[in-house]
Amino acid sequence: MTYKDVPKVELHHHIEGAAPPALVRDMARARGLDISHIFDAQGAYSYRDFLQFLNVYEVATRPFSSPDDYALLMAVVAGEAAEQGVVYLETFLSPDFCGGRDPVAWQEYLAAMIEAAASAEQLGITLRGIVTAVRHSGPEAARETAVCAQETAGDFIVGFGMGGDENAGATAEFAYAFDMAREAGLRLTSHAGEWAGPASVRDALTHLKVERIGHGVRAIEDPELVALLADTGTVLEVCPGSNVALGVYPSWEAHPIARLRDAGVKVTVSTDDPPFFHTNMTREFEELERAFGWGLSEFAALNRVALDAAFCDDATRAEIAKRLEPADA
Ligand code: ADE
Ligand code: ZN
Repeated sequence: MTYKDVPKVELHHHIEGAAPPALVRDMARARGLDISHIFDAQGAYSYRDFLQFLNVYEVATRPFSSPDDYALLMAVVAGEAAEQGVVYLETFLSPDFCGGRDPVAWQEYLAAMIEAAASAEQLGITLRGIVTAVRHSGPEAARETAVCAQETAGDFIVGFGMGGDENAGATAEFAYAFDMAREAGLRLTSHAGEWAGPASVRDALTHLKVERIGHGVRAIEDPELVALLADTGTVLEVCPGSNVALGVYPSWEAHPIARLRDAGVKVTVSTDDPPFFHTNMTREFEELERAFGWGLSEFAALNRVALDAAFCDDATRAEIAKRLEPADA
């Protein structure tokens, strides 16, 4: 069946990574930028491996160079998510790409994005932002990003996270930035256990003291860690389509999401960077049905776990919960 109209809660989504290639191409053309090398003959994003993906991702952000550009991007990606039944979306926002980590510029970019997100409410989608450090930009850049996060923590900016090259730098070096964000009242998540093994997940828990892990799937290689995640209620933002497209796992069937769930780990499902991986939330659900036989009751349970773990306030959580109830309830 198609799960397009089933309401969905999505916690792991990068705003730039959700930019449709056609929009990026049009914006680049309008600005006289030649970035044709990041597309294949069909016009899709083209990359061979994770590090090249990160580079293509960065090049694709270049046409978006003003608050208005990011407002447009927010409007487009919110519309696409709403189209796939997403009723609540937390998206990663990077001051690195929005004004080069300058707090004043960041506030202008963010104000424009918040306005676009508010307009998207009429599509039945509520958005919140997670300020995100880029790991391979280093700990000092992460600290500057945390300053941006501190100054904009509030109703819309509800969390702080870190993506990028998981093997860059030692995790402990980023603890200071996460401490700053925590002191500003932000909730914490970090990418780990995607390109590095179980130790990276332990490091994120120990040094960054995060309550959610972006991906985290390679915890499956360490049964004691799986038990720890289950016991502590740590939530994994699992992005199976991303993992398969980037080659973390060779197929959906080989993906550990079902084994993690069976072991009692709180798993959720997200797209990460939908057009890069030729996915969307509907397709994620369809592939999970195909690979593991999951259906409406499993997806309803995933939504509940995700909503419980969402970084929004409880009044918003209660509002979203109503959207998850079956229409005839
Ligand atoms: N940034 C965007 N997508 C990412 C991913 N899958 N891993 C790390 N950083 C990212
Ligand atoms: Zn990600």
